[in-house]
Amino acid sequence: MELIRQGRAARARTDTWREAGGGVGLVPTMGALHRGHVSLFRAARETCDRVAVTIFVNPLQFDDDHDLARYPRDEDADLALCASESVDLVWAPPVDEMYPPGIDMPSPDPGRVGGTFEGAARPGHFAGVLKVVHRLFDVIGPSRAFFGEKDAQQLFLVRRMVHEHHLPVEVIGCATVREPDGLAISSRNARLSQDEREQASCLFLALTEAAALARAGERRTAPLVAAMAREIGATPLARLDYAAVVDDPTFEPIDTIEGPARAIVAAAFPSARLIDNLPLPEPA
Ligand code: PAJ
Repeated sequence: MELIRQGRAARARTDTWREAGGGVGLVPTMGALHRGHVSLFRAARETCDRVAVTIFVNPLQFDDDHDLARYPRDEDADLALCASESVDLVWAPPVDEMYPPGIDMPSPDPGRVGGTFEGAARPGHFAGVLKVVHRLFDVIGPSRAFFGEKDAQQLFLVRRMVHEHHLPVEVIGCATVREPDGLAISSRNARLSQDEREQASCLFLALTEAAALARAGERRTAPLVAAMAREIGATPLARLDYAAVVDDPTFEPIDTIEGPARAIVAAAFPSARLIDNLPLPEPA
């Protein structure tokens, strides 16, 4: 496995792969790698000739300097994990290689959906995400890029950017990897106290209740939203941020389930804010 810092060198390496006829799979990450990331590496390894992972804590997508400063970083462990997963290349650039001073990088517009849910909670977040993902696509030139459904709104916005900008990359969404009690794995989970960790499964419980109602034939979303709010509201250490049902193809909130839909939740614990989502069974 090769570790590269410079954008130019990363581009040169993937150029040689493409010239040899190989497809490049890209897994963008911010490091602090865990089993969720590993599932993306494996999906890329299975379907691509070459696998590139990027590790970059993107300052543009943090609206809070404190949050950026305390984002977990452990590059040695991350590189060892990538090597053990047969990743070919890790591009881990310093900030001025990602955003060279004086060069105006494209800033794709996250649009209205980019200002809802996670975008409402974290102003500017998705503009930062799309800017870095566009830059990563530019430098690495992947034929496929792998993203987790865990961050469903991010996945939606990346897909839309690729479509709107005609980027020559296929975006692959990968299922959320969970702890045994259902908690979606996240680098933020490490911040939770023992009590918070025990109660953190309320997000998944809320989502599975919504899914059970949908499975039982409930097409109106209001009872699903109420059930999710009740579950999280009854959890002493959790403060509900949002619970909603969105149309999967547009990420717009809906009143009635008529096709692919997704329940989404966010809750703040004293030590970390958590998000999760679940696709809902389609009405028969
Ligand atoms: P990061 O939080 O490091 O996540 C990198 C990728 O791993 C994302 O696509 C995310 O959805 C996926 N992921 C995280 N937890 C997962 C889980 N439990 N199961 C499956 N996939 C999971 O998301 C980002 O970084 C950044 O916004 C990034 C796209 C790298 C741009 O900076």
